[in-house]
Amino acid sequence: MSNSKLPQIRPSEITDEAVYHSRRRFLATVSAAAATSLLVTDRSVAESAPDLPALPPARPSRFSTKVRPTSYRDITHYNNFYEFATDKYSPATLAASLVTRPWTVAVDGAVKQPRTYGIEELIHQNPLEDRVYRFRCVEGWSMVIPWVGFPLSRLIRQAQPTGNAKYVKFTTLYNPREMPNQRSDILRWPYVEGLRMDEAMHPLTILAVGLYGRVLPNQDGAPVRLVVPWKYGFKSIKSIVRISFVEEQPLTTWMRAVPSEYGFYSNVNPNDDHTPWSQERERRIGDFFKRPTQLFNGYGDQVAQLYRGMDLNKYY
Ligand code: MTE
Repeated sequence: MSNSKLPQIRPSEITDEAVYHSRRRFLATVSAAAATSLLVTDRSVAESAPDLPALPPARPSRFSTKVRPTSYRDITHYNNFYEFATDKYSPATLAASLVTRPWTVAVDGAVKQPRTYGIEELIHQNPLEDRVYRFRCVEGWSMVIPWVGFPLSRLIRQAQPTGNAKYVKFTTLYNPREMPNQRSDILRWPYVEGLRMDEAMHPLTILAVGLYGRVLPNQDGAPVRLVVPWKYGFKSIKSIVRISFVEEQPLTTWMRAVPSEYGFYSNVNPNDDHTPWSQERERRIGDFFKRPTQLFNGYGDQVAQLYRGMDLNKYY
């Protein structure tokens, strides 16, 4: 992500780093391939996440892609989590300072049934589903992530929104003791995101509480985060403490930082020319070659109707 307070990185430098990353992986994979299966197995997950508790069994979902997921290692060691650091590698260690139990999520605003949920209630009172989704960052990299979660629409129905609920606003924890980079002014804290009501109700939109069958690692947004697979990754806000139903379109963190580059909708779009990176192609982490970006990240069949009649270049 880029804003004027960050050192400005040219797209060519990003590419070099990604090439380096995939080359390193390529070499590591070639040498490991002789000894082990290339498939990610439960065993390899258990080895890399020995301390994280398993979640209750999750049922498969028809919304999952059949593509092989990115490795647990990459999903948990290549992160954007600005509350800890602006580089991709240190959240994996720095996010250890985040305390995720106890944890509550307040649901409030224009609803008939405002209430506060404990994280255990969210995990145990909603039927969990495996959702293997493509995940596309605006910086031009992508992954395939086996999330565990439940549709956000379940929570919305329980809250019973009133006619004034036009948008949903999501807020991350604000706690500079646990999230030390909140002491910097690199972004306005706490991190805020938003969706239009119909986007929030869409069956693809989930609250994720885990990945690879275990609770979310801190660096991936523990204990609960949003996942909206047809939008750039920055819409998928981490470590949520508040979900508010509002009448006006929320001013999100990245819109506030650089409104000309990051819009409210931020649907994945190969023709997008607002962002500092060309969106035409993307590099799947673990792959050597780039691939073409898909409109709506390949979820157009399910979501294009949400934007019928809207100029995606204007409502970016
Ligand atoms: N949420 C919060 N609170 N803080 C962040 O810095 N980064 C966003 C998004 N959610 C971010 C956040 C960005 S830019 C991306 S690409 C994804 O989280 C990264 O998710 P991952 O680290 O699990 O891959």
